[in-house]
Amino acid sequence: MQLFIEEDYEAMSKKAAECIACFINQNPGALLCLAGGNTPLGVFEHLIQMQQDGKVELNSVYYAELDEWVGLGYEEVGSCKQLLADNFYNKAQIQWERVHYFDGLATDMEAECRLMERWLADHGGLGLTLLGIGMNGHIGFNEPNGSDARGCFTVQLDEITKEVSAKYFNKVLPVETGITIGWKELYSSKEVIFIANGKQKAPIIQKSLYEAPTATVPASLFQTHPSLTVVLDQEAACKV
Ligand code: PGA
Repeated sequence: MQLFIEEDYEAMSKKAAECIACFINQNPGALLCLAGGNTPLGVFEHLIQMQQDGKVELNSVYYAELDEWVGLGYEEVGSCKQLLADNFYNKAQIQWERVHYFDGLATDMEAECRLMERWLADHGGLGLTLLGIGMNGHIGFNEPNGSDARGCFTVQLDEITKEVSAKYFNKVLPVETGITIGWKELYSSKEVIFIANGKQKAPIIQKSLYEAPTATVPASLFQTHPSLTVVLDQEAACKV
């Protein structure tokens, strides 16, 4: 594991964006999976700026959405699709055919899983995956003690995930189910980057990185990943 502890959120975001741009420049045509959530928003801003400065071409790679709230579509504030499209793909003018989303409004979620698996396979598997870490140690919607099936699946959301979800929405949404790329598929990514900021994440970061790997803390299962980079701000790193 390569660990970077940066001064603040801004510096964390810049460092992670530089790592991603470096990967893109060296691996045109690769497939990237970029997490939603609040943590990566600064990374997206930096990547877009780097593209404007001629330092990276974000249209030289492909993208797979990490996860989605089942029942939410682009129109819903807080859907992963809206967050990513509005904060990254549209602003970066990424061609729509380079991105595959889960459709949270689809009637057949199994079919959505198989479509994503096909997209992953057709693009040679994941090259780089950027992940935030949930307050319960989840990555994507790989919840504590969840499935270790290969591929993609739907999950019953953990209580902490449901509680935390309110911060993304502009009204009360009783989310119960998520659809996600499974952690084994994410683990097969050639490179994985974890990012986290803020003191509220410090305890789960400590568990994820330094306690024995366990399915109760899904992020901890990546300790053995052959190419894991962790970028933290000082607050999130205060217990490591
Ligand atoms: P956050 O979400 O980036 O909004 O903290 C992380 C997560 O729950 O995976």
